Amino acid sequence: MSSTEQKRTILVTGANRGIGFLIVKKLAKESPPNNTIILLGSRDLKRGEDALIQLGSPSNVHVLHLDTSSRESIIRAKDEVKQKYGGQLDVVINNAAITRKDLNVDAAREILGTNYYGVKILNEYLFPLMRENGRIINVSSRVGSNVLYEASQSLRQKYTTSTLTKYQLDQLVEEFISAIDTNTLEHLGYNIESADLIYGVSKAALNALTQLEAYEWSNNNSLLVVSVTPGYCATDMTGHAPDARPAELGADSILYMVNAPRSELRNGGFYRDGQQISLISARISR
Ligand SMILES: NC(=O)c1ccc[n+]([C@@H]2O[C@H](COP(=O)([O-])OP(=O)(O)OC[C@H]3O[C@@H](n4cnc5c(N)ncnc54)[C@H](OP(=O)(O)O)[C@@H]3O)[C@@H](O)[C@H]2O)c1
Repeated sequence: MSSTEQKRTILVTGANRGIGFLIVKKLAKESPPNNTIILLGSRDLKRGEDALIQLGSPSNVHVLHLDTSSRESIIRAKDEVKQKYGGQLDVVINNAAITRKDLNVDAAREILGTNYYGVKILNEYLFPLMRENGRIINVSSRVGSNVLYEASQSLRQKYTTSTLTKYQLDQLVEEFISAIDTNTLEHLGYNIESADLIYGVSKAALNALTQLEAYEWSNNNSLLVVSVTPGYCATDMTGHAPDARPAELGADSILYMVNAPRSELRNGGFYRDGQQISLISARISR
């Protein structure tokens, strides 16, 4: 059957470079071209097309123009999936993310706009397209667990309580941004010495969102929603740090979530290299 409607369709956001690119590369290699569509998400069309050329333009990979921080772009990309690729998705890998070193409201808006709100909004738009037994894989980081470990007990509790709602989670994120402006982060329970605080909060919020999405959508089509860290990897994001592991291993950690039997994975769980890990953990030595 050559119809796109029947093909296994996998979207990877932010896939023009870094770990996302390697995920697409590996998927393209392991997937039969006649029954798989891999959508290489890229916020810049030219960078996406260049990445496709770098892969040797395999017939099972297509560039999807998608800026995850823009609702307009998300809506356009969804329309494209419907019009050109059969309108159904089996796997969405929310890989796109950014970080910045500065601790100010601008940086917080930008980072949280992509790493938290971007994923949240994209998932809300794409959820209706998910096929039975589909998987939404939110790419997170242990920096999120570390920020919570170093936060006050009461703040930790707010991010991880089972009674948290999406509305309350947005409020936590907005209060964090306001507190940067008013210099009251410590009053809220954040530790301003935490490394990559804004990035960490964006990933802690993403882990909390993953649990909420898993709970909310678990009765629909047996959808699985998990978060996963690639581990500390040598990419542009980490300045290709010499002590970081190869980005291929990070891609494998994420691909495990695509390929592992459903019975091995807990809906809403946070994983690294196929093992479930804690939402709150001390900084690990590299
Ligand atoms: N590297 C690590 O050690 C590490 C550790 C833990 C977690 N992670 C997570 O792993 C994922 C991949 O990281 P990486 O190291 O591969 O990062 P990277 O090398 O910086 O690549 C990030 C990718 O995301 C894209 N992107 C950023 N903002 C976007 C947006 N608004 N819309 C669409 N695409 C966007 C970038 O596109 P442009 O080329 O257009 O900028 C790029 O393709 C991220 O979620 C990151 O937080 C990484």
